[in-house]
Amino acid sequence: EEILKIQKKVYEAVGRQIEKWGIERNDEGWRDETSGKTIGKGWNADYYLYCVEAVDPATGWRVPLAPSWIIGHKTRTVARLIPDKKTKSFRIDIIQNVSLEEMEEAKQATASTNGIFCPVDRDGNLIPPHLRTATPIGEIRGREGLRLWDDGDVVPRQSDAFQERLYCIRWVDPETGNKYYRAPTEADIEREDKVNRLLKKRFHEWQEKGYIPHRRIEPGDKTDEPIRTRGWTHWHHLYNPRQLLMIGLFQKISDEIATSPQDRVVLLLGIGRLADWCSRLSRWDSSAANEKGAQAYFNQALNPLANYATRGFGALKTSWHFSVPERSISSNSEILPLDARITNYSADLWVTDPPYADAVNYEELSELFLAWYEKRLPVLFPEWYTDSKRALAVKGADENFRVAMVECYKKLAEKMPDNGFQLVMFTHQDVDVWSDLALILWAAGLRVTAAWTIATETDTSFRTGKYVQGTVLLVLRKRRDSLRGDRADIWPEVQNEVRRQLAAMLELDDKEDPNFGDADYQLAAYAAALRVVTAYGAIEDIDVERELRRTRRPGETSPLSDMIRSAVRIASDFLVPDGLDKTIWRQLAPEERFYIKGVEIEAHGEYRDGVYQEFARGFGIRDYRWLLGSDAANQTRLKTASELKGRDLSGEGFAGSLLRQVLFAVYKTAEEDDPQPGLDYLKQELPGYWDQRRTVIALLDYLSNKPSGSMTHWKKDTEAAHLLLGTVEGDSL
Ligand SMILES: C[S@@+](CC[C@H](N)C(=O)[O-])C[C@H]1O[C@@H](n2cnc3c(N)ncnc32)[C@H](O)[C@@H]1O
Repeated sequence: EEILKIQKKVYEAVGRQIEKWGIERNDEGWRDETSGKTIGKGWNADYYLYCVEAVDPATGWRVPLAPSWIIGHKTRTVARLIPDKKTKSFRIDIIQNVSLEEMEEAKQATASTNGIFCPVDRDGNLIPPHLRTATPIGEIRGREGLRLWDDGDVVPRQSDAFQERLYCIRWVDPETGNKYYRAPTEADIEREDKVNRLLKKRFHEWQEKGYIPHRRIEPGDKTDEPIRTRGWTHWHHLYNPRQLLMIGLFQKISDEIATSPQDRVVLLLGIGRLADWCSRLSRWDSSAANEKGAQAYFNQALNPLANYATRGFGALKTSWHFSVPERSISSNSEILPLDARITNYSADLWVTDPPYADAVNYEELSELFLAWYEKRLPVLFPEWYTDSKRALAVKGADENFRVAMVECYKKLAEKMPDNGFQLVMFTHQDVDVWSDLALILWAAGLRVTAAWTIATETDTSFRTGKYVQGTVLLVLRKRRDSLRGDRADIWPEVQNEVRRQLAAMLELDDKEDPNFGDADYQLAAYAAALRVVTAYGAIEDIDVERELRRTRRPGETSPLSDMIRSAVRIASDFLVPDGLDKTIWRQLAPEERFYIKGVEIEAHGEYRDGVYQEFARGFGIRDYRWLLGSDAANQTRLKTASELKGRDLSGEGFAGSLLRQVLFAVYKTAEEDDPQPGLDYLKQELPGYWDQRRTVIALLDYLSNKPSGSMTHWKKDTEAAHLLLGTVEGDSL
């Protein structure tokens, strides 16, 4: 409540200043076509859309860039590019309530990853969309690359390859709340100039005081992108003048109004949110449910955009105000940014959420926020440092990563009593990362004693398929005794432990409405394997220290990975797909199991590539790509019987399998709409048909029932499988 109060106070004060400057108010209005009246006078804008413009060397025309010119799907608003032969540039009309055809037309990109597409030829004649050719972006950047911006630059210079242009403003009717998209008028452009002047006047002072950033962008994996693709060299280059003026004003007023350190912290966090939601990296989201600006970090990268949104004061309301969940922490608490390897603190319980295998470049990405916090943090937290300490970040996936992780966990183990424990969060699905984790914990003198999976990503946007993404929590204790073991002894132990773990989860889960997905079982299997492996002080002749530090050849993995991998295999084998008899399942070859599993997980709505990869690994099969109907990320699925057609019907692996023949018979049935040829085929081709009939029936039964209603590509084949099933069952000697 107090938080809300101070946020509101700042917000309102900012609003008054914006109003006084008059930089978001429409003093002119416009003629409304339907009523003939002047409307919009005195209204305020809540969004400004900008795009990059570049001269296409092929045509000499200056082209405004965007991946789509649809502005709003709900309001059916589009931008239309009107060529002007005199200036070899485009006027941009903004039209609301257009027809569906016009919406379709507006989808046409002028910028994509392939380059830019000029809509006209040299003479300004429109080129039909399918005949437009791409000019690679590299050609526009030039051989030397882009000019690098100076600290003082806030907009491109006239000679720069990439220019920036305001092309649309959204006005809000204060009475009805209705929103109108309009192209900027001359008066609007004057207001843009005013914003520039206002900013210029304050620029140095505000940088000095830390109201706006001053820091350079240090080159790096992620930070190279804005430098290379836009010439931006300083963090404030990620913001246009309107955004700098706005966020700077929030900082200034926060600084003036806040009295307590608490207030200051809350307000500073708000600044971080503004920096994320109101930048040149904030995409305009035209989808019907949104029509709003997105955050810069919608993924974990810095992505300069062809066009972007700037929030006006009104649209910043939701960005600025946020609530902090209240938790009463009764003990003394202290928060320190510190390299885990040098902590001096002792604790009974350590909870860690380490970075894994280069998943996210925290250290680089946090620099955007640190640039905004630069002058505030040292006052609020004098004992903190204010840079990202890139050099200390545990990262990579190689020996440096492994060694750094061991150093961290060794240190924490050292700083805990013998009966203390640690909780580690772990999300990776990849067997190699798990094997490395085993090695790391092992080397740090820790053992896994318990583990469970929890749903962490509850945000629906992270959900893929039916199941939520799980995280495993591992409980670690000091390894006390020095058990020695051979792989031959450990292997059956791993098997038993994985089985026990999975059986317990199956037992626990709701049969009708399962909570655990395949991915969860996999994670649990890994964790169970770790529990066994890390209990040993020594395994055969594995030299942990050497293994950790050794540079691996490409494709080489940890010596523990075989054992860990076997855990997934057990899991894959153990989890008999619903609807298939256990005895039948046991008879199937690994490739057949892979296919059967694939159909099942697709029926669960699972389309992640990684899950297929894991199954393939689990079943020990290498070449499964040819079985995929789609291998696009998050759309992975198997080919159906009809898609497999008559290809690869004999030989090694899947091609020679019983299931492959059954699928072919289904395809024949579907094609001819008659089960007889399919049946004949099976009887001719399968040696010992009558012995295999029971399995054939089980497989047909599975194929006719398993694919879910939403798998429309399966419809024809499930019907055919059903038809064939009846015929096979009715057929007797
Ligand atoms: C998975 S993230 C933690 C996310 C956090 N639990 C959250 O919910 O926001 C891993 C963190 O480890 C930090 N880290 C990297 N190297 C470190 C080191 N040597 N000592 C301590 N922390 C480190 C990274 O900066 C990153 O913030």
